Amino acid sequence: MKTILQIGTKGQVGWELLRTCVPLGNLVALDYPDVDLSDSDGLRKLVNEVKPQIIINAAAYTNVDKAESEIALARAINATGPAVLAEEAKKLKAVLLHYSTDYVFDGSKGSPYLESDPTKPINVYGQTKLEGEQAIEASGCVNLVLRTSWVYSVRQGGFVTKVLQWARQQEVMRVVDDQISSPTSARMLAELSALILVQGREDVYGYLQEKGGLFHCAGGGSCSRYEWAKAILELDPKKEEQIAQRLEPAKSSDFPVPATRPMVSVLNCDKLTENFGIKQPDWKKSLQLVMDAEF
Ligand SMILES: NC(=O)c1ccc[n+]([C@@H]2O[C@H](COP(=O)([O-])OP(=O)(O)OC[C@H]3O[C@@H](n4cnc5c(N)ncnc54)[C@H](OP(=O)(O)O)[C@@H]3O)[C@@H](O)[C@H]2O)c1
Repeated sequence: MKTILQIGTKGQVGWELLRTCVPLGNLVALDYPDVDLSDSDGLRKLVNEVKPQIIINAAAYTNVDKAESEIALARAINATGPAVLAEEAKKLKAVLLHYSTDYVFDGSKGSPYLESDPTKPINVYGQTKLEGEQAIEASGCVNLVLRTSWVYSVRQGGFVTKVLQWARQQEVMRVVDDQISSPTSARMLAELSALILVQGREDVYGYLQEKGGLFHCAGGGSCSRYEWAKAILELDPKKEEQIAQRLEPAKSSDFPVPATRPMVSVLNCDKLTENFGIKQPDWKKSLQLVMDAEF
């Protein structure tokens, strides 16, 4: 059996990965503070103790607004930590599975972004995540980096749970209609990640040496945050608890926040499908499946 070291178990993707990766081998899974991506020495020590064949990094500094004022910490977690994991993976001949973001782009292209498009982050989070990607690439380790967007789970914290909560607290809800991307179910992302690892069977290293690298991997299609919120309200299985009477479109400029977001950061995921023969369902279908399953 392969030994898998998973970093990040309590976040949206990490929690789902724990469930999808458990059948794949001997899973050693840790979260902060038992593992700290900003502690390079501790990270090296951990990897060398566990000696995994697969390293999965589902942890990150994900508070996009706070990152604007915690630049050094965001960089340590999103760039230096992944760089250390990549160096150690290379030495051990392990595979590194890592996640990145649509926020590596500035959102001005006007059509879905390809992996080959030039990056241009417009906030600290996006910049540090890009540095993480670049360090992994530069290390020469065998890797699978999945760039995704608007990740949600109905378990905690993200946009879906917030909308359901607002609908129970506010009669009029206002959600921006000028940010457009693709909602991605954390569960779908975790399942798809495991499916790719399984395709490598006993030689996941050789398989990803040939087929790995950087891929876009987000829910199919795209929508605005307003359209996403509308779908969440419609699919809410406990609609009777909603007090919201109206959902109104707003503009990003109506809600000043520290970090600028890319306006249209839809990812073209064709390369993933061509390479691995799998794809994420349409975002609305995934949302329906996830909400049906969770209530
Ligand atoms: N969420 C999105 O919309 C989105 C969009 C595009 C890409 N992504 C990427 O997808 C991946 C998974 O995101 P997610 O939404 O699952 O994130 P999440 O829910 O915010 O989880 C992040 C996890 O990282 C942990 N963490 C934070 N600092 C750490 C440190 N110093 N050492 C070790 N662990 C630490 C957090 O622990 P604590 O809770 O204790 O802080 C948490 O368990 C990330 O790479 C993210 O950049 C996310």
